[in-house]
Amino acid sequence: MRIGVLTGGGDCPGLNAVIRAAVRKGIFHYGDEFVGFIEGWRGVVEDKTMPLTIDSVSGILQLGGTILRTSRTNPRKTEGAIDKCLATIARNKLDALITIGGDDTQGVANALIEKGVPCVGVPKTIDNDLSGTDVCFGFDTAVGIATEAIDRLHSTAEAHNRVIVCEVMGRDAGWIALYSGIAGGADAILVPEKPIDLDAVCAIVKERHARGKYFSIIVVAEGAKLPAKDAQATYGGKVDDFGHARLSGIGNVVADEIEKRTGFETRAVNLGHTQRGGTPSAYDRMLATRYGTAAIDLVHAKKFGRLVVLRGTEITDIPLKDAIAKTRTVGDELLALGAGLQPILK
Ligand code: F6P
Repeated sequence: MRIGVLTGGGDCPGLNAVIRAAVRKGIFHYGDEFVGFIEGWRGVVEDKTMPLTIDSVSGILQLGGTILRTSRTNPRKTEGAIDKCLATIARNKLDALITIGGDDTQGVANALIEKGVPCVGVPKTIDNDLSGTDVCFGFDTAVGIATEAIDRLHSTAEAHNRVIVCEVMGRDAGWIALYSGIAGGADAILVPEKPIDLDAVCAIVKERHARGKYFSIIVVAEGAKLPAKDAQATYGGKVDDFGHARLSGIGNVVADEIEKRTGFETRAVNLGHTQRGGTPSAYDRMLATRYGTAAIDLVHAKKFGRLVVLRGTEITDIPLKDAIAKTRTVGDELLALGAGLQPILK
């Protein structure tokens, strides 16, 4: 078969491992040919391609980013762009298209599926909030990076008697904040799922300092909101090509409030894109490899319009349109885990 592959949306560690696995299994096992689309849906709209061969996917397993590069181009938002995608797919004589991306990328795939394009999706988001799958590749790496950063913040915070607020990724769900916050022993974890309770955060900080502690560490997801504002902190009102606001700054807002209310010197650190860059963890390489091989197997089983997912420890597949229906947020049990470790939050 002749199969197209693209990576869309924000990058995350493990994209290259998915590409490599799909291409190797496709060529070695099924005798496939591959066409890589450059920069996500932009490459399909503009018919910009590169060949994907055993040679071109050699040595990429451990590399961050994506050899196909990526973009947030959304053909559904530009007049005539979906027709251009259909023309590119026909011109390249594709029998199938593997779309590696999150809900926006898969939303475009779904629009093409409805027009008869044989697509198979692979779920990707560093935020780990795609519904239908238990884990997205890249999440484990991001949690590892954030946890290491929180470990490092402990010693400098203690040396200076400071509170440090560490802002991590997580637009609509606090998976990275919760996992890295618990693993890193943060004193409070603030997530988009619950409005920020500054009174509770300040009470935790004061109680620790009254107990003779010299520092506190607070982890906040970029999408967490203050109840008074009911709006996420954004950077200059800018939006990306998918139309999402550029989030940034809640860490500074929380830090300023803590310093004002408690009198303790407080600093904010935003980990930003360091969480998405660099080499994937062994767990993510494994998961990405399972996703890539499962995607090519689905193509050959002609199970189109499906998304490969992880349920428990098993790889399976679900209708792709179900995965884009809603965000998978952190449940109450895990949220209670963080709160249960603090004396203030009953
Ligand atoms: O959607 C994943 C994500 O990493 C979010 O956590 C973040 O808000 C956004 O992408 C930032 O992406 P970029 O700066 O690449 O536009």
